[in-house]
Amino acid sequence: MFTVEAKEQLDNIVKKYPTKRAALLPALWLAQEQYDGWLPPEALREVAGYLEMPPAEVEGVATFYTMYNKEKIGKFHIEVCHNIACMVRGADALIDQIGEKLGIGKGETTPDGKFTLSGAECLGACANAPCMMIGAKYFEDLTPEKVDAIVEEYKKK
Ligand code: FES
Repeated sequence: MFTVEAKEQLDNIVKKYPTKRAALLPALWLAQEQYDGWLPPEALREVAGYLEMPPAEVEGVATFYTMYNKEKIGKFHIEVCHNIACMVRGADALIDQIGEKLGIGKGETTPDGKFTLSGAECLGACANAPCMMIGAKYFEDLTPEKVDAIVEEYKKK
């Protein structure tokens, strides 16, 4: 459920748009924050109710964009860009390296629920490929050594 503060945030977001439905993307983003990083069916229903939209339409948008998680994710979501610029600069090997380090494959979550590893489409940082995000934080110009250090750092958190 949205907290009182989140509902106020949502009210403020909606005020910036000409119609309620135009605020769907930021509303989903806020819902994802409220629901521990993913969008369970009740979150989609809550957003649909608030924006007075058909639930199927809200679900259609949420399932279209990869930035919205449709399944529960780990505390730290590692998203390695596997699009062209990052791919030619070694992204696939970095994904394998992280997977081996954490004992999971792409699209999986560690048994302790701490990490989820995903491949991502272009993160908009092609000039500094290869890159990845953990939550909202960017890591660019990655090397195997840098990735190793970053994962170790997050293991301690
Ligand atoms: S291709 Fe990786 S950030 Fe654009």
